[in-house]
Amino acid sequence: MSQSEIPLADIHVAIIMDGNGRWATARGRSRSAGHLAGARAARRLVEGARELGLGTLTLYAFSGDNWKRPPGEVGTLMRLFRRYLAAETARCVSTGIRLSIIGRRDRLSSQLRHAIDAAESATRDGDAMHLRVAVDYSARDAILAAASRAAQSDPTGLAAGGAQAREVFAAALGAVSHDLTPAPDVDLLIRTGGEQRLSDFLLWECAYAELWFTSRAWPDFTTADLLTALGDFARRNRRFGGLDAEEMVAASAIPVRVSSLAAG
Ligand code: FPP
Repeated sequence: MSQSEIPLADIHVAIIMDGNGRWATARGRSRSAGHLAGARAARRLVEGARELGLGTLTLYAFSGDNWKRPPGEVGTLMRLFRRYLAAETARCVSTGIRLSIIGRRDRLSSQLRHAIDAAESATRDGDAMHLRVAVDYSARDAILAAASRAAQSDPTGLAAGGAQAREVFAAALGAVSHDLTPAPDVDLLIRTGGEQRLSDFLLWECAYAELWFTSRAWPDFTTADLLTALGDFARRNRRFGGLDAEEMVAASAIPVRVSSLAAG
């Protein structure tokens, strides 16, 4: 099946929403204003993605390393997350979006934790799209925590290696990230804001993700941009380390003696 034939409902898009600060500075506004514009962009994009029929969308809202930012900016972001949850939960319920917050919870305020619990439980039956928002998230920390959890809960499965170990590990990764119905691997990773790096986001789940970068700052990112990214994705040739059907035929028709490589 080519990329363009895969239903959008089976596709997982993850987005690193970068560029809020520079967007605001370029307009002579505060970084907080940039984050507010970023939250509005997130709201519009979630709605657009649901209308397109996307299956899973993961947004990187706050990394474990973002605690290093000035307390005022961290406070603004935490307030924004609470307001977002309070304002968006009813909309998610009415549009069939299941909302999960992935990441650590122990460093979040009790009010934010309660808002997360309420949003997740109110939206748990949503089947139109799975929206995951990463807050206090670090892929490396999640991988370490999952490895330790899997080693305790199913050492035999983990030691079996191969597909069985990967399944055991993926379940543990979901559990430590507070996502009890783990999402499929990421198909398309988008980063806005012009940088081209992963920044400790979904390192296990992005093993075969297609990467798509844009210099557009997050507050300006729209559903039309998402469609452009999905269009590029549909034209990519994903082989997951193997060959596609035509290459398989061609490769088996040309026997190459490995010893001839040594001969130069
Ligand atoms: C990176 O831009 C963005 C963040 C660290 C925060 C992302 C948060 C939002 C988009 C708003 C809240 C989202 C939801 C879903 C409620 P930056 O500040 O690092 O920008 P810069 O690189 O231009 O400084």
